[in-house]
Amino acid sequence: MEFVEQLKSQVDIVGVVQQYVTLRKMGPSFKGLCPFHNEKTPSFTVHAAHQFYYCHGCHVGGDVLNFVMEIEHLSFYEALKLLAERHGIPLPKRNEHTDPETKLRAAIYQMHEIAEEEFGSLLAGPQGAEARAYLQKRGVSPDMVEQFRLGYAGRTLTKIFERRGFTAEQMEASGLVMKREDGSFYERFRNRLMFPIHNESGKPIAFGGRALGPDDQPKYLNSPETPIYKKSHVLYNLHRAKEAIRKSERAVLVEGYMDVIGVFASGVREVVASCGTALTRQQVQSIKRHSLNIAVNFDPDNAGANAAERSIEMLLDESMRIRIVQLEGGLDPDEFCKTNGADAYRASVRNAKSYFYWMADRARQKHDMRTSEGRVAAFQFLLPAIQGLSDKIERGAVANDVASYLGVSSGLVLENFRKMAIDRRDKTVQPVRESMRAVDRMLITLLVSRGDARELFIPELRSLGALQQSPARAIYETLFTLHASGANFTFGDLHGRLQPAEQAMLATALLRDDVDGSADLDVDEAALDRGRACLESMRHSGHDMDLARLKNLVKDAERAGNFAEAIRLTQELQAFKSA
Ligand code: UTP
Ligand code: MN
Repeated sequence: MEFVEQLKSQVDIVGVVQQYVTLRKMGPSFKGLCPFHNEKTPSFTVHAAHQFYYCHGCHVGGDVLNFVMEIEHLSFYEALKLLAERHGIPLPKRNEHTDPETKLRAAIYQMHEIAEEEFGSLLAGPQGAEARAYLQKRGVSPDMVEQFRLGYAGRTLTKIFERRGFTAEQMEASGLVMKREDGSFYERFRNRLMFPIHNESGKPIAFGGRALGPDDQPKYLNSPETPIYKKSHVLYNLHRAKEAIRKSERAVLVEGYMDVIGVFASGVREVVASCGTALTRQQVQSIKRHSLNIAVNFDPDNAGANAAERSIEMLLDESMRIRIVQLEGGLDPDEFCKTNGADAYRASVRNAKSYFYWMADRARQKHDMRTSEGRVAAFQFLLPAIQGLSDKIERGAVANDVASYLGVSSGLVLENFRKMAIDRRDKTVQPVRESMRAVDRMLITLLVSRGDARELFIPELRSLGALQQSPARAIYETLFTLHASGANFTFGDLHGRLQPAEQAMLATALLRDDVDGSADLDVDEAALDRGRACLESMRHSGHDMDLARLKNLVKDAERAGNFAEAIRLTQELQAFKSA
């Protein structure tokens, strides 16, 4: 475990989380929209001093390793490896302790690295001539070939994998090679132009292979799902686009690999594609971590329009702000960029209108706009989308806008709204209210943050009867146990040993936004005095309570006629008072 501690001390959780979530500094912590559940107001907190994250909405929390495991869907060891590599910390060579599943995944990652290399060099060599000619014909520059790590697949992979000592099981699981009846292997991708698909940290995890001849079927052959590739979780180009998505505060969503490359080459770098599947919730969520705005630019054909319509539903479900890019001349994004140039494309994205105008145009085509029934039907077709707008005022404004666009009276708008506005879904998770008394909050914060406070206060706290009445009793006891073990410990260690209800209490108390002293605890000598005051007040509240209890017992005894007992209790009471 030593290496884990070393790594955690060298890696700042705030920086790591910021690679996935937009955070804003608030008091001693950072806040953002939770990447693990759907929310509109930020309840995801990252605390720099405690090196810990916690969501007050869905109650997930942990240290930097937990975060990377969750967000990248990795095992503990993989998360460790990823962080170590990213921060240039050499990993100790002790792989034999990892479980078989992790070992298999590691082998498949490695095979994908090898394949990407190999495809790249085949494309540059004599075998790649046809593919290079194709790329040139499609106007893909050598710079884009380099950036997108494009390649060419021949028949070389099986031999390389065998030479590098990968087992038959690993080879088959990689999806890169296929097994014949007789047990021998052959390449899945042959004579194809290869597009590596990367995960969010930039590692190749799958490929799309395009046929070079117009008659080769299928046009695109894709990797199957493997232990490292879950189609529905991955967006093509996200790892290259995410910085740009944040800077430009928008993502551009296109359909195809070639569209991504064409659009990227024209300087719109915030572009991603969903790899030929219907847009999934996970994909939307991975965009949403970087920006709430999305410009959808699908192919202008019917299939593209239907895909756009389905995507809009999913995007609305995740509360994204949607615009639709409509390109002149019925061109797809790649063709448009080539024909009209980068500036024209950027202008089209910039001028993209909110999705309901596009939906209104769709509705106009579907209904007979000459009759009032047709116009009303068109309007009703649009209502669910308008209902998806989270802001009430915006909803009303858009409804009126669209109504006048379709030639529907505003009276009808109102009527429809009354009918539908009633049960809007709200998936926000209600935070559980956990309360911790101010004295407990102060003392526990001190005990977690400072070794000297632990030395100073724990012996006294242990003997304090009043602690038994504290709602935070279990937290204190866990703290005592950790302290007694002699090792240094972190907030994460404490958190990990508690039950969920106490975890929530601890997190809400310690990771609060209001400063409440927790910011200056590390430096402030006065903080120890405040700790002493808290201890004192707890001792007194305990004292007071025992006093009150004794008085009641005396009364009870008198009322019951048990005078001997009443006298004994009164003596105890006297002794207690003078103590
Ligand atoms: P397109 O047919 O529009 O491909 O499919 P494209 O990327 O624009 O390629 P070019 O310009 O025709 O060369 C869009 C996406 O759908 C998936 C691919 O991800 C493709 O990029 N697709 C398409 C497949 O997976 N298999 C196919 O056979 C076709
Ligand atoms: Mn296309």
